[in-house]
Amino acid sequence: MTRKKVLVTGGAGFIGGNFVQYMIEKYPEYEIYNLDGLTYAGDLTKHRGIETKDNYHFIKADIVDYEIIIPLFEKHKFDYIIHFAAESHVDRSITDPGVFVRTNVVGTQVLLEAAKKIGITKFVHVSTDEVYGELDFDPTTFFTEDTPLQPNSPYSASKASSDLLVRAYHHTYGLPINITRCSNNYGPYHFPEKLIPLTISRLLNEEKIPIYGDGQNIRDWLHVFDHCVAIDLVLHEGVNGEVYNVGGHNERTNLEVVKTIIHSLGKSEELIEFVTDRLGHDKRYAIDPTKLEQLGWKPTYTFETGIAQTIQWYIDNNAWWEQIISGQYQKYFDKQYSLEILKK
Ligand code: NAD
Ligand code: DAU
Repeated sequence: MTRKKVLVTGGAGFIGGNFVQYMIEKYPEYEIYNLDGLTYAGDLTKHRGIETKDNYHFIKADIVDYEIIIPLFEKHKFDYIIHFAAESHVDRSITDPGVFVRTNVVGTQVLLEAAKKIGITKFVHVSTDEVYGELDFDPTTFFTEDTPLQPNSPYSASKASSDLLVRAYHHTYGLPINITRCSNNYGPYHFPEKLIPLTISRLLNEEKIPIYGDGQNIRDWLHVFDHCVAIDLVLHEGVNGEVYNVGGHNERTNLEVVKTIIHSLGKSEELIEFVTDRLGHDKRYAIDPTKLEQLGWKPTYTFETGIAQTIQWYIDNNAWWEQIISGQYQKYFDKQYSLEILKK
C-alpha cells in the first residue's frame, strides 16, 4: 500500500511545528513533508528530535513561488495539505502590510492552484478568529461560523482574503477543503514576540512587560496541543467545504494573563508597563466551538493547566528562546517598543 503524503506548510513555525511533531508521532504510516520558507519566524532546531526519522522530510520553499510550488506538487502528488504558512503577527502587519498580502493572500492562491492541478484528498486552511473582527465585552456573545467577516487589521484582512479564496476554490472547482478559525494559541515554541512568550521570557530576565492600552482587551486562549488534535479531526472527519471554529472558552484580559504569569514566577507587578495602545486594537475575541465539538473535539487543557505547562516549558527550554531574542529579533523589539520601555 502506498503511504499517504501529508504536506504541512509553515511547519518550522509555532503551530505548524507542533503539528508536524504531533503527526510524526501519531501517524508513523504517513510521509510528512514540512514546507517552509524559513522567515524570521521559522526555526528548524525544534525538529532535532524528529529530523532523522524516515517519514520526515523538509522542503525549503516560498509558497508564493509558483514556478517552484507547481512542479513540487506534480512530483510528490500530496494527498493532504495543511496550510499554516503565513505572516502571523498583528503588530508587524501594522508597520508592513505588504508582505502579509504577498504571503497570506498570493501564497495561499498558489497552493490552491497547485492542489487543484494534482487533485488532492483534503486541503485544510488554518485561519483565525480575527477574520470576524471584534466582539464587545458582553460575555454572552461569541463568534460562530456564521458571524460575518469584518477583519480590522492588515493581518486579519489578509487572512480573511485567503479564506475567501479557499472558499471560492471549493465552490468553483470542487476542491475538497476545510477552513479552521481558532483563537489565540499558546504553548511550546511560541515565538517570543507574542504576548505570552514575551511575558514569560522577559520576566525570566527581570525585564518590563509592555501592556497595550489599559490591558482590558480579551483573548480566548487555546493550548496548541488541543489545536493540533482539532486540525487532525477536521483533516480526517471534516465535511468538505465546511468552516470549523476552534476555541476552548478560556477568556482572559491581557492584564489577567500577565498577572497570572507574574504570580506563577514569583515576580513583582511593578514590572508591568502600560504603553501606547496598538492601532485598531480589537477589544475581544471569543469562540463558540459547538460545531467542532459535535464532530468529536474536546479541549484537554484549562487555561490554568496550560499556562503552568507552558511556563515550565519556557524555564526548561531557555536555550531555545534565548537564541531567538539575542539575534535579529532584538532589532525588531527595539524598534517596536523603543520609546516606551527601553529608556526606563
Ligand atoms: P508563525 O509565525 O509562528 O509561523 C509561520 C511559519 O510560516 C514560519 O515557519 C515561517 O517561516 C513560515 N512562512 C512565512 N512566510 C512564508 C512563505 N512565504 N513561504 C513559506 N513559509 C513561510 O505562525 P503561527 O503562530 O504558527 O501561525 C500558523 C498559522 O495559524 C497562521 O496561518 C496563522 O494565521 C494561524 N493562526 C495563528 C494563531 C496563533 O495564536 N498563533 C491563531 C489563529 C490562527
Ligand atoms: O486570535 C488569533 C490570533 O492571535 C492569531 O490569528 C494571530 O496570528 C496571533 O498572533 C494572535 O493575535 P493577537 O494580536 O491576539 O496576539 P498577540 O500575542 O500579539 O497579542 C495578544 C494581546 O496582547 C493583544 O490584545 C495585544 C496584547 N499585547 C501584545 C503584545 C505583543 C500587549 O498588550 N503587549 C504586547 O507587547
